[in-house]
Order: sequence, then structure tokens, then C-alpha cells
Amino acid sequence: MQHIIRQLEEMRDRARAGGGERRVKTQHDKGKLTARERIQLFLDPDSFEEWDMFVEHRCNDFGMEAQKVPGDGVVTGYGTVNGRLVFVFSQDFTVFGGSLSEAHAEKICKIMDQAIKVGAPVIGLNDSGGARIQEGVASLAGYAEVFQRNVLASGVVPQVSLIMGPCAGGAVYSPAMTDFIFMVEDSSYMFVTGPDVVKTVTHETVTQEELGGAVTHTTRSGVADLAFPNDVEALLQLRRFIDFLPTSNRAKPPVRPTADSPDREEASLDTLIPANPNKPYDMKELIQKVVDEGDFFELQPNYARNIITGFARIEGSTIGIVANQPMVLAGCLDIDSSRKAARFVRFCDCFEIPIVTFVDVPGFLPGTAQEYGAIIKHGAKLLYAFAEATVPKVTVITRKAYGGAYDVMASKHLRGDVNFAWPTAEIAVMGPKGAVEIIFRGDLKDPKAIEARTEEYRQKFANPFVAGHRGFIDDVIMPRATRRRLARSLAMLRDKKLENPWKKHDNIPL
Ligand code: HXC
Repeated sequence: MQHIIRQLEEMRDRARAGGGERRVKTQHDKGKLTARERIQLFLDPDSFEEWDMFVEHRCNDFGMEAQKVPGDGVVTGYGTVNGRLVFVFSQDFTVFGGSLSEAHAEKICKIMDQAIKVGAPVIGLNDSGGARIQEGVASLAGYAEVFQRNVLASGVVPQVSLIMGPCAGGAVYSPAMTDFIFMVEDSSYMFVTGPDVVKTVTHETVTQEELGGAVTHTTRSGVADLAFPNDVEALLQLRRFIDFLPTSNRAKPPVRPTADSPDREEASLDTLIPANPNKPYDMKELIQKVVDEGDFFELQPNYARNIITGFARIEGSTIGIVANQPMVLAGCLDIDSSRKAARFVRFCDCFEIPIVTFVDVPGFLPGTAQEYGAIIKHGAKLLYAFAEATVPKVTVITRKAYGGAYDVMASKHLRGDVNFAWPTAEIAVMGPKGAVEIIFRGDLKDPKAIEARTEEYRQKFANPFVAGHRGFIDDVIMPRATRRRLARSLAMLRDKKLENPWKKHDNIPL
């Protein structure tokens, strides 16, 4: 017995030591934490239950039989974040560069299977040199097993990837299939083929950071949702983020106590919309002023900035917010913003998170770049996502809601449950100037006559009442009362039940 206990302790110590002092020091010198330090920071103190600490690889080639580290380069298990269950795997770069062996993959798959069974999020802390080169196809098979589980878990439990080191080659496709990707600035990168291959094939010279660093993926590609300056900040923000999410599609989002009264009025919102309809204003100001304690967790803040997405709470309950941003491209919908918002809406719908949509949209962005880039298909994604969503949908039109974009932005016609407009709303096929140019094409030459017709159109359509007469708007509300009206609507919708017709699955335009 004593002997076994001693053996157990020795094995635990070896597992905890990872790749050894030298490699741990190298990891620290790069400003990175070890796999275990990361788990400790991420989970509630003393909540981590580790699994498979004694698992070793089974490779006997290239002298690998003499190099075995218990745990095989990934720490897996479960614990809690603010008291709620999560499963976690944390790749250990100090052991074979965190590379994925068959055994390493089996460990990840085990916690994923369990997470699906019990209904808890899967959080991946990725720091890996990719497939374990010495294992060949066994390692590729391991990746595929993880990919398959990413797909089966999708829509069942939230999956979040935090990229904290290398993530290259086919390995990127596991995070790509998770719901959210966060990165650490300067120490993480993601690409399908690295700078050397790029140089050989396309003759482009590019650094790792330029090709797949945090800035690239949070501004240009939109692959990542957020980037943080270091490991500690990333892990603490990940905790804050998890707090907005339900543990599975069988659970409601958590309710957090708040001292912010649902009846709070914001008089300053009455003057948020400028008198000149072409002048922008910051939609984020509205969001911050209506949600609980101004706490808005924005996603992709530097990508497709013409649309805003993120989580907040009203009366303590999580809501997903989608909002046009008039400060960027006048709030037009384009390819990137449609894709960004569509995926967010679909996440909310998977996990029963009510969607609040703030609308100020002059239409879809015109141009050959958009048409050749398939705005038709990409714009349809957002339309599709809003239309299929059965969660509570509350919409507030603050100013422009023109053309097809009016329909798309959670309109009444797409089963919007409560559709409000501010008195400043303009709901029409297009703006007054464009409308007059088309209706009276060629007939009106005199600028005064054009101005008169434009004014006539403005009077007739640039208001919320035409839509209100038809019941497409449920009420015209004072901006200052927006929080109260949202809170009441969401409370009324709390037990909403709506089901789409049975199907194997849908066929969203891709
Ligand atoms: C085995 C690996 C490894 C790997 C790194 N190591 N990657 N061992 N398989 N894939 C080991 C190194 O031998 C080294 O061991 C230790 O990890 C640290 O690596 P370094 O190179 O010293 O670190 P660094 O300079 O920081 O460079 C990190 C790196 C580089 C950029 C990730 O190691 C690298 O290029 N590795 C190979 C990446 C790769 O080609 N992976 C396969 C991609 S294809 P010691 O003992 O010295 O500490 C792929 C397909 C997936 O992943 C397909 C899915 C469908």
C-alpha cells in the first residue's frame, strides 16, 4: 500500500512537472503561463477535478518509447466558474510542444463526450505545435475524432477556444468549429499554412504575426472574436464571458442579481439622434445606457464595425444584442457584417438567449466588391438567421430602416415578438432623396421642385406611423423609456414557445 501511494505521488509529481524546469522557464520567458497555471486562474479555487493524469502516448518510433510524460501534453478535467460546471482542456506546450498524439486526442474527446452528456460548456486552452509528427496518421485520426465531437456538441453545449500559442495546419479547424475564439496578443497565431509555405507557393513574404496573429484575426479575417494583451487578462475575461452563457441547450442562461432598476429612465437618450438624418451617432451609447449597469460584453469590436454584437443583461438575464452602427459605413449591411451578425444570432437561438435588435440601417452597401463577393448569399445568412430564430426577439428602430435591410433586421414579418420605434424612426423603401430621383426620373429638373417632392416623401414616409398603422410596429416609444419597455417585453416573453416545422436540419445559404 505504502509503495503504491509513493508510486502515485511520484507519477503525479512527474505529470505536474510537464516537460521539465527548462521548458517551463522557456514558456515563462515568452510571457506565457503553463497549462496548469492557466487552469488554476480560469477555474474557481480548488474546483478542478483532473482526469487522465496517467495517460501516456503509445508511440514506439523515433525513440519515443523512452520519452513518456504522464498526461501526454494536455491537462483535462472539469471544475467551476463562479459555481457553474465547465469542462476544460489545456494543452501543455512544454510536453512535445503541446502536439496532439492519439492519446492526447482521446483525453480531449473524453471530456467532450462527458460535457455533452451532462450539459456543460467545453473550454479549450490551445497551445500546440499541431499533429504529433512522430505518430503520423494516428495523430490525424485523433484530430478528426475531436472535429467530429465539435460538430456533435455544436448547439448542445457552448464551446469556446482560447488560443494561447501556436495553432496551425488542420489543427485550426477544431477552434473554427467552436462558438467563440479568443486569442492572446503577440503570443498566439492561427493559420492553415505558415509563412514558409506561403513564401514557396505564392511568393509572398509575411511574418507569423501578420499572417495569423491576434490583430489579423480580430480585424481583417474575423476568425477570432476578441484578443487580450496577456494570458492572465484573457483567462479572467473568459470567466466573465462564461457568466453570460447557459451551460447547455437544456438550461436557461444564468440570472445575476442586479441593483439596476428595470424602470430606470435615461433622459439623455431623447437627444441621442441628431437633427440631421445624415449625421452619425454612437449606437454603443444607447446599448450602454439601457443594459444592466452598462455592462456590455462586445464581440468582434474591431471587425465589421458597422454592426455591433455582444452580450448584456436586463433584469439580470442574459440578452444578445445586434445593432447597426451609424458611425461606420453609415450602418449599412455588407458581407462581413451580415456574416458576423448571422453567426451571433444563431448562437443566441441555439442557447435560448433572447435577442434585442437596435436598427438604424440605410440598406445594403452598394458596389461591385460587394456583388462579386456574394453579398446576395451573405446578406441572406442574416435574414435566414433572424427568420429561423424562435427565441424572444425584441426590436427597436431608432432611425433608418430602409429597404430589404428593414425586413432583415428582426422585423415584425420575421416573427419579431415586440417591435418598437422611436419617434425619429424612418421606415421606408429608401431615403427620400433616392426615392424622388427614381419616382420622378427625368420629369423633375428644377432643384426647387425636386426639394418639394423630397420634402413630400419625407413627410409621408420618414416617420414610424405608416408602419404603425399596419401594426408592423407595436408602439412608438420615448427613447428615455427604452430600458423599461425592453424589460417589460422580455419579462412577458420569458416563457415563449415557438417551434419551426420538423426537419432533419435546415440549409442556410453558405
Ligand atoms: C512533435 C513537436 C511538434 C510536433 C513542436 N514539437 N511541434 N513535437 N510534433 N508537431 C516539439 C519540438 O520538437 C520541441 O521539442 C518542442 O516541441 C518545442 O518546439 P520548438 O520548435 O523548440 O518551439 P518554438 O521555437 O516555440 O516553435 C514552435 C513551433 C515549431 C512553431 C510550433 O515547433 C514547429 O514548427 N513545429 C512543427 C509544427 C508542425 O509542422 N506541425 C504539424 C502541422 S500539420 P523539445 O524536445 O526540443 O522541447 C498538422 C496537421 C493537423 O497539425 C491535421 C488535422 C487534420
